[in-house]
Amino acid sequence: IELDSFAPRILTWFDHSGRHDLPWQQHQLDTPDPYPVWLSEIMLQQTQVATVIPYFERFMASFPTVQDLANASWEQVAEHWAGLGYYARARNLHKGAKQLVDIIEQTGKFPQTVAHWEQISGVGQSTAGAIVAMGVRADQYGGDRGVICDGNVKRVLTRWAGIDGDITKTATTKALWQLAERLTPTRDSGHYAQAMMDMGATLCTKAKPACLLCPVQADCVANAQGKQSFYPVKSKK
Ligand code: ADE
Repeated sequence: IELDSFAPRILTWFDHSGRHDLPWQQHQLDTPDPYPVWLSEIMLQQTQVATVIPYFERFMASFPTVQDLANASWEQVAEHWAGLGYYARARNLHKGAKQLVDIIEQTGKFPQTVAHWEQISGVGQSTAGAIVAMGVRADQYGGDRGVICDGNVKRVLTRWAGIDGDITKTATTKALWQLAERLTPTRDSGHYAQAMMDMGATLCTKAKPACLLCPVQADCVANAQGKQSFYPVKSKK
């Protein structure tokens, strides 16, 4: 496996085959905006893109800013969330909006680092990485980059590197995060994060991965072994 050329290959693939028209990306065209990225990432935690899109659009129409969301009643938020499932996410979203408004009132801006984002309700390590990578984009001016290692990325990396440990075990999780850190570029973590999620969602899928179209097929361990469906190893409980 060729570590240094991994990100460049992924980024080239993203240019021609990644998704560039997602509604939360449209908000990033002029200047980065963490609000739509945070909102969409909470929605995307357990729900697919196609399902999320109309919900995201309705939230942005009714609550165009994080202040609007923080000031909304719980009933309004729950009404907008109805049908998306996993209601704890909606609770965290509303609570998180209030936390973010407090931070903005104190500092004048959204959190700028992964560590700070991880303190917001409902934002775990990978979601914090995604928000900083795609919505803060601080790495473009020397600040924090964002590293992601969600379910999609774990599938891509276990296959590519042939990591056969149980991904529910701490040792495997640690190894995967280390590899994710090693592979993420310091400057372009936003495009890289979106590229890895697109790879996992559209190419390196659970069933029937499209290996012939994959930019890292040449040195993919699972592909060489013909054992794509073996990865990731996950104990059932
Ligand atoms: N899953 C989580 N975040 C995502 C994103 N930004 N794009 C596509 N799928 C995702």
